[in-house]
Amino acid sequence: MPKYTVTPWKVEGEVDYNKLIKDFGTEAIDDKLLQRLKKHTKDLHYMLRRKIFFSHRDMNFILDEHEKGNKFYLYTGRGPSGNTHLGHLVPWIFTKWLQDRFDAELWFQMTDDEKFIFNPKLELEETNKLAYENALDVIALGFKKGRTKIFADTDYAKTLYREAIKVAKKLNVSTTKAVFGLTDSDSVGKHFFTSVQSVPAFLPSALAGKNIPCLIPLAIDQDAHFRVTRDIIGKLGYYKPGILHCVFLPALTGPKGKMSASIAESAVYTTDAPEVVAKKIRKYAFSGGGDTIAEHRKKGGNPEIDVSYQWLRFFEEDDKKLEKIYRDYKSGRLLTGELKEILIEKLSRFLKAHQANREKARKVLDKYIIKD
Ligand code: TYM
Repeated sequence: MPKYTVTPWKVEGEVDYNKLIKDFGTEAIDDKLLQRLKKHTKDLHYMLRRKIFFSHRDMNFILDEHEKGNKFYLYTGRGPSGNTHLGHLVPWIFTKWLQDRFDAELWFQMTDDEKFIFNPKLELEETNKLAYENALDVIALGFKKGRTKIFADTDYAKTLYREAIKVAKKLNVSTTKAVFGLTDSDSVGKHFFTSVQSVPAFLPSALAGKNIPCLIPLAIDQDAHFRVTRDIIGKLGYYKPGILHCVFLPALTGPKGKMSASIAESAVYTTDAPEVVAKKIRKYAFSGGGDTIAEHRKKGGNPEIDVSYQWLRFFEEDDKKLEKIYRDYKSGRLLTGELKEILIEKLSRFLKAHQANREKARKVLDKYIIKD
């Protein structure tokens, strides 16, 4: 039995990403694929260089079509159950780069319905409100106006429902039990939900009356939905979406599992004030350092498990700076406390700009939102 769990609703334990590739039946993003991508993008995003995006489905098909002039659109999303945390930003930062490099349209789904159905403590009014709060984080990252459509499921229901029932008609409960581990005691809402998450993977094609390739960047926890989607919409005559999977930004409290909104001290939120971020990191960031300064200087630290270093891999774009931090920490020259201050400085700058952009986004929110 694996020592970890990866499902859309739970990530626990020390995830073996190479094993996940085998278990989920995806493909590793290898150098050949990176070189092929680079022909189109000119450079490689640091998340590709660092194998933060490490796995894919059908990326070669997406590029085949692109090279034939059949351009893809991007699709990703968020389940609005609370404030956005730094982990959510990881696939979105990368999606923004893809939008820029390929001038691709982005469809962004806010599953207020999902979070209402799955979370016994949340009312629909709250998840719906959170959808629009979370949308500010998406816009703050700089997605293009006019090329980005954001929708909350319950406010775009007329369009989505017509297509969701076509998926639902082909989705058996035996599948939702096998893929998601749902049981007879789970609500019909849970069994139905993946039909809704499937829709944006073919909606632009359905609306245009022709097949348009779809590319979905996400963290690998969401893959299960799209295993179902790919199977069913293939039968409906649509292209199967391509997928790019990333690893998880770890929780602040330890390198295992993922940052999760349900454990407050494990996460840094985009709305956290700089003092709060600094305090959280100083107090909770899991250390890969020695027990004493003397021991650390002698034996060095372990950047592979040190959360401050791991977070810098996701947010420090400069390879040279990151390599130096790695070397200094491993050799013992850099102490855990000093490493934490580097992270605090980096995140404070990032969040200051993000929070300013987030406020500006309020004024243009309606330019991004679609409803029916
Ligand atoms: P949600 O809200 O759980 O997560 C939103 C996106 O963030 C990714 N993610 C992470 N990435 C890196 N490190 C982490 N610690 C971390 N935690 C979460 C998720 O994989 C996801 O990409 N049902 C979905 C919403 C959704 C969606 C989609 C997601 C609707 N359509 C299409 C991706 C693609 C959800 O609840 O995501």
